[in-house]
Amino acid sequence: MSDRWYSKAVVYCLDIDTFADSNGDGVGDIPGLIGRLDYLSRLGVNCIWLNPIHPTPNRDDGYDVADFYNVDPRLGTLGDFAELLHQAENRGIKVIIDLVVNHTSDQHPWFQSARSSPDSPYRDWFVWSETEPSDRKQGMVFPGEQDETWSYDRTAKQWFYHRFYKFQPDLNIKNPEVREEIKKICAFWLQLGVAGFRMDAVPFIIEETEPGNPNSPKDFGYLTELRQHVQWRKSDAVLLAEANVEPADLVTFFGDEGGSSNRIHMLFDFMLNAKMILALAREDPEPIIDGLRDTPKLPAGGQWATFLRNHDEIDLSRLTAEQRADVFAKFGPEKEEQLYGRGIRRRLAPMLGNDRRRLELAYALQFSLRGTPVLRYGEEIGMGDDLALNGRDAIRTPMQWNRLANAGFSTADPKDLIRPVVTDDGYGYETVNVTHQRHDPSSLLSWFERMIRTLREAPEVGNGSCTHVDVPAPRTLLVHRADDTTGTMLFLHNLGPDEVRIDLSSLEGDAEQPNDVLADSEYPEPDKLDDLSVSGYGYRWIRLRRGI
Ligand code: GLC
Repeated sequence: MSDRWYSKAVVYCLDIDTFADSNGDGVGDIPGLIGRLDYLSRLGVNCIWLNPIHPTPNRDDGYDVADFYNVDPRLGTLGDFAELLHQAENRGIKVIIDLVVNHTSDQHPWFQSARSSPDSPYRDWFVWSETEPSDRKQGMVFPGEQDETWSYDRTAKQWFYHRFYKFQPDLNIKNPEVREEIKKICAFWLQLGVAGFRMDAVPFIIEETEPGNPNSPKDFGYLTELRQHVQWRKSDAVLLAEANVEPADLVTFFGDEGGSSNRIHMLFDFMLNAKMILALAREDPEPIIDGLRDTPKLPAGGQWATFLRNHDEIDLSRLTAEQRADVFAKFGPEKEEQLYGRGIRRRLAPMLGNDRRRLELAYALQFSLRGTPVLRYGEEIGMGDDLALNGRDAIRTPMQWNRLANAGFSTADPKDLIRPVVTDDGYGYETVNVTHQRHDPSSLLSWFERMIRTLREAPEVGNGSCTHVDVPAPRTLLVHRADDTTGTMLFLHNLGPDEVRIDLSSLEGDAEQPNDVLADSEYPEPDKLDDLSVSGYGYRWIRLRRGI
């Protein structure tokens, strides 16, 4: 992987504490992850995104950081981390880490000092108000679990701002020292060898919060500054941002008005995520076609990160009420399957009724659309969830490695596990696990390996243009194509249960030797494109030509 490696990457997101426990204390750790790098390498992953690794009171799964310059002792040491980077590099795998700098934990020494006295050197590192701000009850990210964004601190005798939970006070981006400190944090980890950062909550980082103003201005210039700094320290480092904002506002995160990509390299495509889920729910590709059509043009070098399932709830807030209702009805009708009134807290396999055809279809679709695919650990074996756990923890259960005790995740006493392993009928570790699937060429895991290998042969997917092929098509069929100097791929995805046929002879001029490189089943060779069939919930990836 050379320049712009991120646009050819397959990103695998994992939480070290639920991945593999090497010392039997019930919590996954860095040596455990090192022991599983070969697994990830075989799967075809070439970039790992680690959820927060820093010391933390762990009240928001590590997104409440108490020290940005260290590794949480439960996970290992900085030495272990350096070893991880080395071992990953040996296998051609890059590592990016979560950079959570919108806020700190309230246990962070900076906040402890800040609240202790108005004269603390850290007082102005956070956002305060003498009086109760009128927008105190606005802008909450976790409705139901959070009832204000300004809380009174008895020690400081002032109100402090927290966009997320009350134990996550926001840093004050207007303060030049804070701006410098964030750069120093990035430089530290880059120096250790990380390939970049998944930046948490970017629209809120750059918010110049004014008490009483729920629409405080944003300082996009800081993103330009940070990008420059990061790039000077490591030229190919990548910034991958979480910015779940209106589509019209997205381009500003990539670059300034000059049209150059001088801010964030990659943004998660939340809109396409919601539209894919809606399309799967309705068995109708129209929302995806809309999504592709409405995508703003990105400056050169800008790239989407495409995902179906991440570590949070599936956020449906950008859909209309009617669309959201359709998704809930299909994929999460029960209250306990929903979260914050806007999302679903299930894994994809249970949402799709553990139907292998629909799972393959969903992931074939995700990986064939534009952008860099991001996969959440456990999805590759079709893991289930545990709705008895709180909120988003439902999908944060230990990785299922084999059918031994604790799914092979840990040798600890089950009561000491960070979270219980899934044991229910359909998704329990005795049936759903890596070892079992590794030995079975027809397993979901083997399919993922094949699918990712196929992508490697066709860099136009993800890297090149991605367009809907606008021809008369059966209602449930999505036809799209990827084009670049490396070649052209044609994709047929049938979102419905019945077989369909399509005439694509109009594309014959683009075809040299069309052949199915990945499909749900054997199809006759597509020598001509005039009568192509696709089974119910089936898909065909047809390479039309190599090179130009
Ligand atoms: C982001 C993370 C989420 C976390 C929140 C607060 O939205 O994805 O998991 O709770 O930020 O840091």
